[in-house]
Amino acid sequence: MKIRSLIRGTSMLGVAVALAGLSSGLLSLARAQAPAPEMAEMRRGMELMQKQMAVMTPELVEKANALSPQIKQFLMKVALKHPRQSDHLTLRQVMQEILADYQAVAGALAVENGDLAADAARRIADHRLPRGGMLPYLPIEKVSDQALSVLPAMEEAVEAGARRLAEAAEKGDMVTAAQHFGTMTSGCVACHAHFRGQPGTSPRVRAR
Ligand code: HEC
Repeated sequence: MKIRSLIRGTSMLGVAVALAGLSSGLLSLARAQAPAPEMAEMRRGMELMQKQMAVMTPELVEKANALSPQIKQFLMKVALKHPRQSDHLTLRQVMQEILADYQAVAGALAVENGDLAADAARRIADHRLPRGGMLPYLPIEKVSDQALSVLPAMEEAVEAGARRLAEAAEKGDMVTAAQHFGTMTSGCVACHAHFRGQPGTSPRVRAR
């Protein structure tokens, strides 16, 4: 009895050691690729991308899948950075929210209310994402590596511009904040020139 439990104990110990060795081996393999918090973040990012793809038509899913790893990674980072994600608002509706905050920033800067300008600017930087992310609302031919390669620069102009604006406004430096307002605006303009058609056109009026 004593011997049997001893054997069982030994073999259990052996299994435990073997398992510990295996898992630490796997762990160090994983760590060599990315640290654990980054791995968890990547997994969360992949889940968010899958959630966006789940509401896309098969035609768009095919286009999205064909994008380069760099663009996919950028879109994943965008999804991770914006935890406010709507399951029903369109891009145009989200843009209306951004415009409301943009106008709040402009007014607050003009009357030197730095706190209000900072709050509204941070809301722009942390804007909501529409149902399915941004891709469904672009003309389908713009869902390509070439067309989307300009996105990081536009995001930098708008979101980094908005955050810098907020920092300056909070310190009471309205002149610097107003300069960042210009940078941010150039991001709106560039993205619209590249991705946005004329809103609300009618098939019952002749094209210009
Ligand atoms: C990443 C690209 C991008 C950026 C940056 C961007 N927009 Fe837009 N915006 C779009 C697209 C695309 C549309 C068209 C959406 C549609 O019609 O479905 C749009 C539409 C709009 C609309 C709807 C009305 C209209 O005339 O089309 C408003 C308002 C708007 N944007 C405001 C802003 C403001 C303000 C900023 C800067 C703070 C901004 N946008 C930055 C891509 C962008």
